[in-house]
Amino acid sequence: MSTSTETPQRGSTALGPQLKRRKSMSSMVSDAEGNGAGGGQLRRTLGMWQLTMISVGATMGTGILVVLGEAVPIAGPAIWISFVIAGVTALLSAVSYAEMAGMVPVSGSSYSYTYSTMGEGIAWVCGWCLVLEYAVSVAAVAVGAGQYVNETLGVLGWELPPALAGGPAEGGVVNVSALVVVALATLLLVRGAKESAIVNTIVVVIKAGILVFFSIVAFTAFDAGNFQPLLPMGAAGVTGAASIVFFSYIGFDAASTAGEEAKNPKRDLPRAIMLSMVIVTVAYVLVAVSAVGARKWTWFETSQAALVQIIGELTGQAWIVFIFGLSAVLAIASVVLTVLFGQTRILLTMSRDGLVPPIFSRVSRRTGTPVAGTIITGGLVAVTAGFIPLGALAEATSIGTLFAFGLVGVSVIYLRRKQPLAPRTFRVPFYPVTPLLGIAARLFLMLNLSWHTWAVFGLWMLVGVAIYLGYGRRHSKLGSLTKQEYIESHVGSR
Ligand code: ALA
Repeated sequence: MSTSTETPQRGSTALGPQLKRRKSMSSMVSDAEGNGAGGGQLRRTLGMWQLTMISVGATMGTGILVVLGEAVPIAGPAIWISFVIAGVTALLSAVSYAEMAGMVPVSGSSYSYTYSTMGEGIAWVCGWCLVLEYAVSVAAVAVGAGQYVNETLGVLGWELPPALAGGPAEGGVVNVSALVVVALATLLLVRGAKESAIVNTIVVVIKAGILVFFSIVAFTAFDAGNFQPLLPMGAAGVTGAASIVFFSYIGFDAASTAGEEAKNPKRDLPRAIMLSMVIVTVAYVLVAVSAVGARKWTWFETSQAALVQIIGELTGQAWIVFIFGLSAVLAIASVVLTVLFGQTRILLTMSRDGLVPPIFSRVSRRTGTPVAGTIITGGLVAVTAGFIPLGALAEATSIGTLFAFGLVGVSVIYLRRKQPLAPRTFRVPFYPVTPLLGIAARLFLMLNLSWHTWAVFGLWMLVGVAIYLGYGRRHSKLGSLTKQEYIESHVGSR
């Protein structure tokens, strides 16, 4: 007979223990298998090639097309070394992602890895950082697409009315191009993951094509003298620029949000993540070397949309500039598509755990996609990109991302210690040196960012903590289990 003290008190978990509750990997996978809160299920339609294209699609975009021009004056001709430093830092994270994605092939990416290793509190912090990495960055990226639309129309002598050419921060009313790009991506995502992946693959081939085309054209004007002196801004300039161009590597982890839509996730996710890193790093270094080879580093101080300008000056053909500009808009649009995809899948997983409202995990029976969650997320991103000056918040994206990446490194170390024999389809090479080095590199890049960016990040995290205390803590599925239920749900699963 149970006495009143033995009667489980639902929701009575104290904050400390709740923050530390971990979700077992097996219950994550079984939750994923029954993922159809709205009656439908995510569909396993994506193969290795499409997963790789999701990661490349999410990665190559504004960073190389726009940020390159801003970073060259900081680093000087050694900008390619900044790309290598940022690339190695990203690679150190990518190997950790590959190991974790092979072990926990669900849709929550680093949020899920953290939930299974460091508990609910840190998982929430990670999920909230992922909102910076995905939703906030994608709004900033869409604004970049708007800039390219304006540039491209300008080639034809056309221009949008100033009120529609930029948001209030740029002296207009609404950045209509950014708004349209996000709206189109949202509609495509609602239709289906397979349809989105097919469109994305086509666009990725186009964007890789324009970067190769750029490099070939730029190499025709290559002047080795442009690399002398290599370090006019000193080593600090190179590392400072590395922190900035790290933005251009964000996104390689996008494939890890497709764990529940991959045909063979344990095998293909690690491969897709690693392959996308290689493709992207080679392309970036090639573009950086050819760009600085073609123009002296000081030229970039006054350039806008540097790559298009170089193409225009070297070919002298307006139609080539037009096609290049149009492809750039498409390239950036595919970042919007894939990153938005990732955000909806992360929110779906968090919603399934009760940390965000249930509407985000409702999957349509007809399309096999989280329709309501996609429309809400796409709508918020569209409004943000169209009207709201992002400035400082977008700068905090890199810190949030570096932080989330760091947590994945810690998750790898944790699981190697706690579950050394668990099956792994990919193992971080040179363990534990690689994940430790990765954590150190991320800390280093984070410390290179300005105090101002840190302050914005601090405020962002405070908002996140308030949301968790006001909503997540009360609705958490794991948090509301009684101690007995919690133990039972974990028996045999760890
Ligand atoms: N890496 C993405 C880009 O450069 C965010 O657009």
